[in-house]
Amino acid sequence: MATVTAPLSKGAETAAKARGAGQPQSATLVIFGAGGDLTKRLVVPALYHLVQARKLPDRFAIIGVDRRDQTTEQWSQSLTKMIQTLTPAGRIDASAWSWLTDRMHYMPADFTQAETFTHLEKLLARQREPNNLANVLFYLAVAERFFGPIVEQLGHAGLTQQSDGAWRRVIIEKPFGHDLSSAKALNAQVLKVLSEDQIYRIDHFLGKETVQNILVLRFANGIFEPLWNRDHIDHVQITAAETIGVEDRGGFYEQTGALRDMVPNHLFQLVAMIGMEPPISFDADAVRTKKTELLQAIHPISPDSAIRGQYGGGVVLGQQVQGYRHEPNVAPDSETETYVALKLGIDNWRWAGVPFYLRTGKRLSARATEITIQFRQAPYALFRDTPVERLPANILTLRLQPDEGLSVSFSAKRPGTEIEIDGVAMDFAYRDYFEPVATVGYETLIYDCLIGDATLFQRADTVEVAWRAVQGLIDSWARDPVTDFPNYAAGSAGPAAADRLLARDGRVWLPIRTHYPHAAIRPDRASSDAAKVTQ
Ligand code: BG6
Repeated sequence: MATVTAPLSKGAETAAKARGAGQPQSATLVIFGAGGDLTKRLVVPALYHLVQARKLPDRFAIIGVDRRDQTTEQWSQSLTKMIQTLTPAGRIDASAWSWLTDRMHYMPADFTQAETFTHLEKLLARQREPNNLANVLFYLAVAERFFGPIVEQLGHAGLTQQSDGAWRRVIIEKPFGHDLSSAKALNAQVLKVLSEDQIYRIDHFLGKETVQNILVLRFANGIFEPLWNRDHIDHVQITAAETIGVEDRGGFYEQTGALRDMVPNHLFQLVAMIGMEPPISFDADAVRTKKTELLQAIHPISPDSAIRGQYGGGVVLGQQVQGYRHEPNVAPDSETETYVALKLGIDNWRWAGVPFYLRTGKRLSARATEITIQFRQAPYALFRDTPVERLPANILTLRLQPDEGLSVSFSAKRPGTEIEIDGVAMDFAYRDYFEPVATVGYETLIYDCLIGDATLFQRADTVEVAWRAVQGLIDSWARDPVTDFPNYAAGSAGPAAADRLLARDGRVWLPIRTHYPHAAIRPDRASSDAAKVTQ
């Protein structure tokens, strides 16, 4: 397959390309929660990949802070074990790995105690002398309840003060709040200590290449944007289907549920990327302002437009699995939803009347995160004797994961003496055009923090606007007990009520599958069922 490598013109230059130009300044990365899963599975592997890509500054240091009493040596050994499991055949790139481990220091400490921060201050000051590592990135890879207290302690210890051109930044992981009021409270707490441009609120969906590509698809191509509105688009479907259950996160998930876990953050980021107006530049604030405006235009979601579900036992990918209520740390009569489907209305000039249907769930039939844009039917005078529902719709599918790519479906005449129309697809798969890049999805995010580009991070107002949009539904679900859980079998496509949500509007969900084979345009329709046109 030919590789297309046209350099982007200056005008079309994306933030990502612009980022590629610079090398981060020397810095120290302080990881709170250094012994945790996030550090092991995502942060350190991402750093390793950044070393391989030569994207870290030579003068770089890592301080890992956690409660566990262990030496730097022991910490780095445990990370080595983890990295071995992530690299093909356990073969580590020894020079990249030792580059990183040589720069690591472990500090056993309780980050709820003030002395931890005075100790850290001294450690950072010691490092600063010979190496001039005055820039510090604090990564809060800890449970949500520690976010506010750690930021406060950093403030008390003077660690967030920026002086002599040196920067101090803080990465805050998800979940940012549990509802609107807790998100506001957390924003207020951290903004007492930090200015907004020092805060990097992570939504890891924005670290995915395919998600970043949405802006390039929309704004670096001339062919899509003229069609990108209510005149041409019938509706949008966004699906984030998972085959995994809650795994060992029952305790967390019981308090969270699918709505809070996925919707105001990950799915709304996708809604915003699809729906936003073009920003005047790829500057972080220009992009984030447009995204926030879009989220502000979401109608309050009524309970009539929302379906919740919980999985029972079933078979997923050939394996028998138990229902949610039997998972560890889950109440046997739990009312926590593991599935949610929503119909969103967006009240603005571009999208009025175009529903955005969202669904996400655990233990579904396949893992697939994708967005489908279904265009309006062509005016069909020409095909007036053909049942219009049998004319294939034009659908643009953005496959975000796992089979990254994009396809466009359209109608074509079947070869033959009669005019028979069938659906065909043009498919672009990332793997056909680009060399696979080893990634855990955090590389760009960490790199961007180091160079001070906040485009892919959530701003305080965006987080609050998103919570505001779902708060009414959260409250209404809390008031109305569920009576029908579990209401979908593990391994299915979700509850039947979710199908009715679309059926009411005369629409259907596209099947959840990992890949749409070529020409499967109307996956609900066999290709032999081509629409026959009578002239
Ligand atoms: C996390 C949620 O934020 O995103 C998880 O807490 C979910 O429940 C995960 O499984 C999905 O992310 P990804 O990248 O695997 O699609």
